Amino acid sequence: MIYSKVAGTGAYTPENRVTNHDMETIVETTDEWIKSRTGIESRPVTLTENTSDLAYQAALNALDDAKLKASDLDMIIVATVTPDQPFPGVSQMLQSRLGCRAIPAFDVNAACTGFIYALNIADKMLKSGDYQHILIIGAETLTKITDYADRNTCVLFGDGAGAFVLSKSDTNHIPAILTYAKGDEKGYLKMDGYPLKKNYITPEQTRPFLQMNGAEVFKFATAVLPSVVKSLLEETHLSLDDIDMIVAHQANKRIIDKAAKTLGVQHDKMFVNIDHTGNTSAASVPIAIDEAIKTGALKKGDTMITAAFGAGFTWGGAVIKL
Ligand code: UT7
Repeated sequence: MIYSKVAGTGAYTPENRVTNHDMETIVETTDEWIKSRTGIESRPVTLTENTSDLAYQAALNALDDAKLKASDLDMIIVATVTPDQPFPGVSQMLQSRLGCRAIPAFDVNAACTGFIYALNIADKMLKSGDYQHILIIGAETLTKITDYADRNTCVLFGDGAGAFVLSKSDTNHIPAILTYAKGDEKGYLKMDGYPLKKNYITPEQTRPFLQMNGAEVFKFATAVLPSVVKSLLEETHLSLDDIDMIVAHQANKRIIDKAAKTLGVQHDKMFVNIDHTGNTSAASVPIAIDEAIKTGALKKGDTMITAAFGAGFTWGGAVIKL
């Protein structure tokens, strides 16, 4: 049997940091409100680097960690909802910037669950036997689609990128990956696109921003997060005692706390880094996993669960043996 394994991880966040006190000068908010309602204290916000720049740095770090060269890669998958431009994709920009051979490279849009979707696709591609090493990246510059006049959303988001090199393996390191979608018909979490033209007249272009009904998304997130963890445990016949750490999408510390309560998991088993990242959408899971590994919270041989949820709606998760 052919399986896949995580051969290396890497992350990169822009140096510029916006604190809650900085946010107090932008909208009517307080450090106390943001901290108590979300767990966020500061977030990295890009001023000069676009999504492909963040993705490139994260990719170099993951390749270095895997002790591989860009020429070893057989595929690049980038999960993002904030590419530099609609096309070419970030993945294709990286193919040339990293100096890879002419390999398949494509972007995936599944919002904050995008990295789990990329992981699922890469795992199945490796299992086909046709590929040896696949670079998967979650990279976002959410702040460029954030409305800094809307206090309901602007305090939440940060920018960054996280990457894995996933490699072919003889042993099963990723025993389950689940991905789901259910259309968000009411538009609780969305960003409008270009309007259709009427009679070939180009309408005046307005700049669309991300829009969110926070309370509805909160309800959805606190339902699907524990449910996907339970499904992963059932599928792998593991119990929570077998899991060293759960690394969930960092959207709100209260969502993570509520999921821990529903599952009956100790808080120290739930990895949290939202205090200094904010919500980085598709980049959140790989940034958090990389940080957990690099700080020693997760070690080689540990078994972890990762899970995410987001616009679409989408959600999913995976069991990973490091
Ligand atoms: O990654 C994608 C998935 N996204 C998420 O998972 C986000 C899910 N939603 C959430 O995390 C939370 O719903 C929020 C953090 C967005 C909001 O927290 P909340 O506890 O649900 O607050 P709320 O929306 O119920 O608002 C409570 C109050 C409102 O004031 P009134 O109407 O009670 O007077 C808001 O206007 O808090 C007010 N408020 C703020 N006050 C100070 C909203 N944003 C702010 C703010 N500062 N930044």
